[in-house]
Amino acid sequence: MDEQSASTPARVEEAQQRDENDSLAAFATRFDLPDDLYLDGNSLGPVSDTAEEALTDALEQWREQGIRGWSESDPPWFWYGERLGEQLAPLVGADPDECVATGTTTVNIHTLVGTFLDTLDESDPRGVLVNDLDFPTDHYAIRAQLRQRGLDPDEHLHLVESRDGRTIETDDIVDAMDEYEIGIVFMPSVLYRSGQLFDIETITREAHRRDILAGFDLAHSVGVVPHNLSSHGVDFAVWCSYKYLNAGPGAVAGLYVNERHFGTTPALAGWWGHEKETQFDMNLTFTQAETAGAWQISAVPILNAAPLFGSLELVHEADIERIREKSLELTAYLIDLVDEVLSPYGCSVGTPREPARRGGHVAIEHPEAYRLSQALRDHGAIVDFRQPNVVRVCPAPLYVGFEDVLEFVQLLAAILEDERYTAYDTEPSGVT
Ligand SMILES: Cc1ncc(COP(=O)(O)O)c(C=O)c1O
Repeated sequence: MDEQSASTPARVEEAQQRDENDSLAAFATRFDLPDDLYLDGNSLGPVSDTAEEALTDALEQWREQGIRGWSESDPPWFWYGERLGEQLAPLVGADPDECVATGTTTVNIHTLVGTFLDTLDESDPRGVLVNDLDFPTDHYAIRAQLRQRGLDPDEHLHLVESRDGRTIETDDIVDAMDEYEIGIVFMPSVLYRSGQLFDIETITREAHRRDILAGFDLAHSVGVVPHNLSSHGVDFAVWCSYKYLNAGPGAVAGLYVNERHFGTTPALAGWWGHEKETQFDMNLTFTQAETAGAWQISAVPILNAAPLFGSLELVHEADIERIREKSLELTAYLIDLVDEVLSPYGCSVGTPREPARRGGHVAIEHPEAYRLSQALRDHGAIVDFRQPNVVRVCPAPLYVGFEDVLEFVQLLAAILEDERYTAYDTEPSGVT
């Protein structure tokens, strides 16, 4: 078993060598990690020096300028959503005015799915196509939007079924577009459990061939996988900023609307979506902004948005293409180590192995996944557990290195070897 052991000197030396050659390695010094091995950046990214500084600046502006901060801060709070949208646009491959920072992911799903359902005639198919491995909030929101239009969600929400409980085949999505009466296909970019990356280009092309609108939930890819939403013609998308964008718990989310839809009436209108120049005329008639900004609802939550300016600075400095490259190297390395070191203990990889089908995290499957994740946390490796048997491990490229991945595997091997995990409760409770 020795050459399988994760702690052989050759392995340690190789990992250290890879860290030395990594052009992103220095970014780790910009973050404060809550524990030695923080492998949970796909749930909640850690704080960086730039995010903290941006938050502190906003607080100071509030203290010193009060209400004047809306127009006199730098940038003016009034324009935060749009200014952040401009900086988010390159990460999703969109024009600056196709993106805006606003709301939360779930609220943005409500308004965008609602908006596009409203563009469909009574004679159009008005079913929405999703999949059975989705993050639940997407279904809750879409079902609510269907109900509000008098459409029975049990009849109008159609689920593409997974063949293996881990992934969704693109062919099955396309077949379902023909099988059901679909007006909108709404898929994730990356599945939250297995980490499968979807083929956004093909799904959008096939949807458009059938006059179906294509929307995506990019929560698990923004900041780690580059996108080309505009050139693929994607109709709309949503994402959060607290995972790979490291903007903090509950940070303002983001959305994208393709420019050909500018002028479409937002389902959940609010004064922040008004044309900016005349917003403070306080007209009772809603004149919507001619940009994605029209889908804002309320005033920007400044303290939830400011850190995003700082954290985006680091993402742009590192460059999203290089981030993706390192992410693939790290996940490939982790997958190899699971095969070589952890598989004798009953661990297996639940994430697609092809780089083009892999997002930023790896699902390690084991029947004792819950207890293993608890034991790992108590020994300084923060991961999360996802039902029923997944330890989700996220080597986020800005602050995780190859030696960290090796140390994590060493720790998990040790926990499995001496069965330390058996000291923990078998039943999950609370936030996992
Ligand atoms: C794919 C996906 N969509 C939506 C959400 C939740 O969004 P919200 O920020 O509205 O809580 C998550 C949360 O982890 C997610 O993984």
